[in-house]
Amino acid sequence: MAYGLLQGKRGIISGALDEKSIAWKVALKAKEEGATFTLTNAPIAMRMGAIKQLAEQCGAEIIPADATSTEDLEKLFNQSTEILGGKVDFVLHSIGMSPNIRKGRAYTDLNYDWFKQSVDVSALSFHKMMQTAYKLDAINEWGSVVGLTYMAAQRTFPFYTDMAEAKAILESIARSFGYHYGKFRKVRVNTVSQSPTVTTAGSGIGGFDRFYDFADKTAPLGNASAEDCANYVITLFSDLTRMVTMQNLFHDGGFSMTGISEEIMQMVQPQQHQQ
Ligand code: NAI
Repeated sequence: MAYGLLQGKRGIISGALDEKSIAWKVALKAKEEGATFTLTNAPIAMRMGAIKQLAEQCGAEIIPADATSTEDLEKLFNQSTEILGGKVDFVLHSIGMSPNIRKGRAYTDLNYDWFKQSVDVSALSFHKMMQTAYKLDAINEWGSVVGLTYMAAQRTFPFYTDMAEAKAILESIARSFGYHYGKFRKVRVNTVSQSPTVTTAGSGIGGFDRFYDFADKTAPLGNASAEDCANYVITLFSDLTRMVTMQNLFHDGGFSMTGISEEIMQMVQPQQHQQ
């Protein structure tokens, strides 16, 4: 059911790679809620072709942009405002990539050039997006910027390796830029900390299936799906959340606040304790 929450709003949605992508679901919901927007992804992701299908479905134009390149991002904002007929009201940053995770490097054996790439792609790109928009004054007053993150920024998940650091930086950027953009144009900036989700980026993490199940069995509501995440992101783009900014918002079925669940208790073998 649609509520017209984004009626008349314009936006930019990054990171839709295929049907599983969180950004893909956000795009479909944003369309349903009445928004017009452009889609963007790294030029290399374009070659896979799936995004064209989404663009047709949403009546959206695709603007290739490497989120680490400020030149590409300038083009992204300039072209988007031109195509959409004005400044944008919302921006989704749904971008993450770690060469160390891709190549299975342990946290104690990281390649530092790849580490820099992880941080550049997954975190600094969030700052670059906002700094570019800020300088071009490309976001309307009371606009909303959302980035996607994971709880490894607060608690250790050994297999998440250098992405934990990237996410910690991403969340910090949301707070810092949230201050400046709030003062400048009342633009709000938040990160959504999502449950493990079966996507290309998610499934690339070592032991993903097991940690997906663990989270699902821990959270009283179970894991939040990509579609649930999209619904939440839409509320953050809407006027119903105008005063929410600089927050890291957990969208995880209660996982982050649960110590242990009965299901997990049952899975742990009882030990004989000596008196
Ligand atoms: P995905 O693999 O569908 O999306 C990641 C996107 O990043 C892809 O579209 C990819 O092309 C894009 N990307 C990579 N390098 C880029 C660059 N240089 N410039 C522009 N775009 C680039 O996976 P998913 O899961 O939808 O990821 C979206 C966001 O959600 C990421 O930030 C991820 O860390 C975050 N997240 C994912 C979770 C999961 O379990 N899947 C859990 C919590 C957060």
